[in-house]
Amino acid sequence: MSEKAKLTLGDKTIELPVFTGTEGEKAIDITKLRAESGYVTIDSGYMNTGACTSAITFLDGEKGILKYRGYEIEELAEKSTFTEVSSLVITGKVPTADELKSFEAKIAEHSKIPAAIETMIKAFPKDAHPMGVLSSNLSALSAFYPDLLVQDLTEAQRSDVILQLMGQLKVLATSAYRHSQGQSAIKSDPKLDYCSDFIHMMTGKEVDKEVAKALDILLILHVDHEQNCSTSTVRMVGSSKANPFATVSAGVDALWGPLHGGANQAVLEMLEEIHKEGIGYKEFLTRVKDKNSSSRLMGFGHRVYKNFDPRAKIIKKACDSVLAKLGVKDPLLDIARGLEEVALQDPYFVERKLYPNVDFYSGIIYRALGIPTNMFTVMFALGRLPGWMAQWKEMIEQPGFKICRPRQIYTGELNKKLNR
Ligand SMILES: CC(C)(COP(=O)(O)OP(=O)(O)OC[C@H]1O[C@@H](n2cnc3c(N)ncnc32)[C@H](O)[C@@H]1OP(=O)(O)O)[C@@H](O)C(=O)NCCC(=O)NCCS
Repeated sequence: MSEKAKLTLGDKTIELPVFTGTEGEKAIDITKLRAESGYVTIDSGYMNTGACTSAITFLDGEKGILKYRGYEIEELAEKSTFTEVSSLVITGKVPTADELKSFEAKIAEHSKIPAAIETMIKAFPKDAHPMGVLSSNLSALSAFYPDLLVQDLTEAQRSDVILQLMGQLKVLATSAYRHSQGQSAIKSDPKLDYCSDFIHMMTGKEVDKEVAKALDILLILHVDHEQNCSTSTVRMVGSSKANPFATVSAGVDALWGPLHGGANQAVLEMLEEIHKEGIGYKEFLTRVKDKNSSSRLMGFGHRVYKNFDPRAKIIKKACDSVLAKLGVKDPLLDIARGLEEVALQDPYFVERKLYPNVDFYSGIIYRALGIPTNMFTVMFALGRLPGWMAQWKEMIEQPGFKICRPRQIYTGELNKKLNR
């Protein structure tokens, strides 16, 4: 007999079905709760809410496991490439060599933007944050494809939009960066792989293979992370069948915040501050533990991981080898290592199960690769795009698809009158 949960409200008992995922996770299905009882649920910060079912990513925060489409992140980071993982996440299966070639060729074909957007990029102040510029330009791109109505798109057209976004995001990000440096944009080179092309378009320099490989691993680690803030935003906005460019623009905005993707920039700024001011690790930790202070140990803690973030483990290892291969000696890496060591022994962090997350070491690698600090979150967006769009496509194609529209419980004033 299938498992059921019983909820007693006064003298009424309601049976709620229990839904079990393929990895054994369980959820109480409350789809009929309101209709049968008149009640809704309250779950601030969605700490207990499964907003959807999804076959894309599995993560076990207690054990520190992350898998895309059933493949462990460790194996993908070691043996795959960003474009292959993107295709896997979007389509659900590892592409054949021919499929991957065609996937990459389509991204290359789309790696250009309308001339008017190029002009628009040049109109932004040079010191604008690249995430703001990226989001605005993505939103502006929607104006160039007015016929892109989600409800009318075929499956093939939905896939094509994703590849178009992967190509165009690369151009938008690098062109905005070049503008901020007072330099003109560099055209995409279809002969280069995705990461080499990105680095070439950004720097104009010949690309070191080690640098491109390191960036490729970082992007693989960022591809998807189930229902995080930006992915949930993409699902929420996309559920109104909004234009896909506008939908991704909203995802970029959500990612930008320091509690989410913006943490990678915040970590580096924190490490720089410690370095510059010569603050001791223990002294710094006292500051972040103080409830009267708003500062946190950036790059530590996670809503889901209550153990090591498996991505952080891979990045920490990659960090050592990338810096060694590039011959970079970075004092910030020593500070990060020292802070981590002290924090992991501190009862405050131990009791709250706060471990380094993906952002703790990623900035040090980006820095070693020559990527400026305010571009870090853009790199995250570049990596996360295939995950956002895989989730968008999955949602649109799921039977029983509905617009996302949570409920609330009103706690405001009653029966007020203007008395005019
Ligand atoms: C990621 C994050 C937003 C998760 O937040 P959350 O699940 O809502 O957890 P909370 O903010 O409720 O934190 C739980 C407790 O740990 C503390 N805590 C969490 N992260 C902390 C950090 N990085 N530094 C110091 N204290 C932290 C909170 O103050 C809280 O303490 P309390 O129980 O005494 O009030 C949070 O850990 C954080 O702000 N981390 C730093 C930013 C970051 O690295 N973000 C990238 C995530 S990939």
